[in-house]
Amino acid sequence: MSLSVKHLLGIKDLQPQDIETIFRTADNFKEILKRSIKKVPTLRDTTIVNLFYENSTRTRISFELAEKRLSADTINFTASGSSVSKGETLIDTAKNILAMKVDMVVMRHSASGAPHFLSKYIDAAIINAGDGTNEHPTQALLDAYSMREQLGDLKNKKIAIIGDIMHSRVALSNIYCLQKLGAKVLVAGPPTLIPKHIKALGVDVTYHVQEALEWCDVANVLRIQLERQNMPLFSSLREYSLYYGINKKMLDSLQKKIIVMHPGPINRGVEINSDVADSEQSIILDQVENGVATRMAVLYLLAGKKDLE
Ligand code: CP
Repeated sequence: MSLSVKHLLGIKDLQPQDIETIFRTADNFKEILKRSIKKVPTLRDTTIVNLFYENSTRTRISFELAEKRLSADTINFTASGSSVSKGETLIDTAKNILAMKVDMVVMRHSASGAPHFLSKYIDAAIINAGDGTNEHPTQALLDAYSMREQLGDLKNKKIAIIGDIMHSRVALSNIYCLQKLGAKVLVAGPPTLIPKHIKALGVDVTYHVQEALEWCDVANVLRIQLERQNMPLFSSLREYSLYYGINKKMLDSLQKKIIVMHPGPINRGVEINSDVADSEQSIILDQVENGVATRMAVLYLLAGKKDLE
């Protein structure tokens, strides 16, 4: 089993078969993670650097755990506290780290395209752990994997992505991934937070959250990315919550039981209420759990090793 790509820079570059291969491999790793001994020697003697230029809780811990479960040697780099503050460029930082014989790079950066840029200058396999407003491929893979666990084959399943679509790398990667798996995608949110030309990607659009909930099998709710907004795009968080936040009353008014997801971090009481986030319809923590097996699969497949254990 192998992928058609050398790096995982975005879901855009993957073939549907690649996604299926990642899911099948993740199934195997999920089984291994249920054992009392969760560690396998698969990536022994492989060195991986986690290069995080932007904050992260879930993605960084999940990658680090995935690497440790695979017995890889890991190095954690965060921009704060590094020589980046002394003016070192991204390429110089990466080349210096790679001079220490690193095989793979997991990279998060606030600039869209940073991992693509780096891939032109270094030989190591690069995994994009989120680049600006562009893509967050492993999030989309773990999201689709979690949906598939609940619904089976995603062909013709209806997925609503709700919230700040404009600034979300999770939204774009989810759209690419779900469409490659044959799902139907609707985006919903305030007009100011939905890109004008998003229909060109083949998704439907609504500005009414209740309409999206009535249509969908799964609602993937996204955070307002205030850190990426240079000017106010809605009047207040209170008003956003009133018109676009998801609460239990809305779910209870539906004629069916939908699945609710969120990539995290959650802003409770803004885009999602606690009575939804903590409800039995929410699979938010399943997403986090599946992140480890999915990332183990990506690391394993890009490392090009033959044996799973
Ligand atoms: N979902 C996600 O990317 O979360 P973190 O920013 O905490 O990694």
